[in-house]
Amino acid sequence: MRTQVAIIGAGPSGLLLGALLHKAGIANVIIERQSPDYVLGRIRAGILEQTTVDAMVEAGVGAGVGREGIVHQHLDLVFKNQHHAIDLHRLTGGKVVTAYGQTEVTRDLMEARTASGQTTVYQAGNVSVHDFDGLHPQVRFEANGQSQVLDCDFIAGCDGFHGVCRASVPKNAIHEFEKVYPFGWLGVLSDTPPVSPHAIIYANSERGFALCSMRSMTRSRYYVQCALTDPVDAWSDARFWTELKSRLDPATAERLVTGPSIEKSIAPLRSFVAEPMRFGRLFLAGDAAHIVPPTGAKGLNLAASDVRMLSQALGEFYTEKSEAGIDGYSERALRRVWRAERFSWWMTSLLHRFPDTEGFGQRVQEAELEYLVQSQAASTALAENYVGLPLQG
Ligand code: FAD
Ligand code: DHB
Repeated sequence: MRTQVAIIGAGPSGLLLGALLHKAGIANVIIERQSPDYVLGRIRAGILEQTTVDAMVEAGVGAGVGREGIVHQHLDLVFKNQHHAIDLHRLTGGKVVTAYGQTEVTRDLMEARTASGQTTVYQAGNVSVHDFDGLHPQVRFEANGQSQVLDCDFIAGCDGFHGVCRASVPKNAIHEFEKVYPFGWLGVLSDTPPVSPHAIIYANSERGFALCSMRSMTRSRYYVQCALTDPVDAWSDARFWTELKSRLDPATAERLVTGPSIEKSIAPLRSFVAEPMRFGRLFLAGDAAHIVPPTGAKGLNLAASDVRMLSQALGEFYTEKSEAGIDGYSERALRRVWRAERFSWWMTSLLHRFPDTEGFGQRVQEAELEYLVQSQAASTALAENYVGLPLQG
């Protein structure tokens, strides 16, 4: 088998890259180790920056988000039992974010890919990448019990944090930066109307962080900070709802509609960046290259901005015969990545309860939150980063 760009991984970054390349007339094949149902079953992000929605429109898959995405002009901060609105729209000169789940983004991309007849190999075994330091890279894998070889011009490593691409780069060619946080997030999905259908709520409380989000007008997504050692089974639905209410302001807690969970999982929080994001003819994009703690809602959005930059670079290579774009990809992408890393680390530090700083840390966070909601300069800085910095930035 031969293609121009071999994409490893059919998560949001691999599928969106495939769609953007297809639009640009560049042939690509996606190799994914899981089944489509498994990929769609992972409940993850839910807030899209305008640049991500634009990338979906550019890729020809904007209909679903245009129809069902719910625009948020505000985000709400809760601390000291009080509720404060940050007007994203006003503070950023008209920018907003859109609530539309990663599951829906992935489903739209999968459907468009099937309709356009492009090749995706699901349930590929023993995927490995070779010869990306030369002009003729190869991907090897097993499908239907047979060994296969995919020859290509370039490999795009869109295979997430635990993928094979970053792990195949010689250790001395890569520099990794990492910070792990001493807590996790317990997430619950439920078919109940969202408590705040027009603004995500981020809550700082003495009991820890909480977040109220949504997938639609009838489906809610909530999170509470929890201990990393907690098994999911330790959290009955009743315990979850009681804990969530205790971390919100009284009026919001009163309005919260509870119901059975339809998904419940615990995720660890991590900041991670691998530099560079290009090794000869292998590029890394999305979680394969970096992880942010989810507090700033940046993981999926960074994956989208990486692949938009990568598709532009590959477009220049094929149409203008210029290597300038692919040579500059890593530096351009990393500049935006580090800004999102900084913002996600800051949001995480501001809103969570840290075991080592206890009461002092709590008071300092409350002082910063008060400053944030009272100062136009500070709220503008939050709003600008939350809606997403410009792609060029
Ligand atoms: P992924 O979505 O990880 O996709 C990578 C794909 O590669 C997967 O389908 C995987 O099966 C495949 N793959 C892996 N190894 C191989 C291999 N060897 N061969 C072939 N295929 C392979 N972000 C937010 O903004 N908000 C959130 O609430 C949030 N929650 C999250 C919860 C969890 C548990 C996780 C893990 C992430 C969460 N994120 C969240 C981050 C966000 O979901 C990611 O940033 C986003 O999924 C990145 O997309 P990606 O395509 O780069 O990677
Ligand atoms: C969601 C997740 C986030 O990490 C976040 O910051 C906002 C919303 C969500 O799952 O909807």
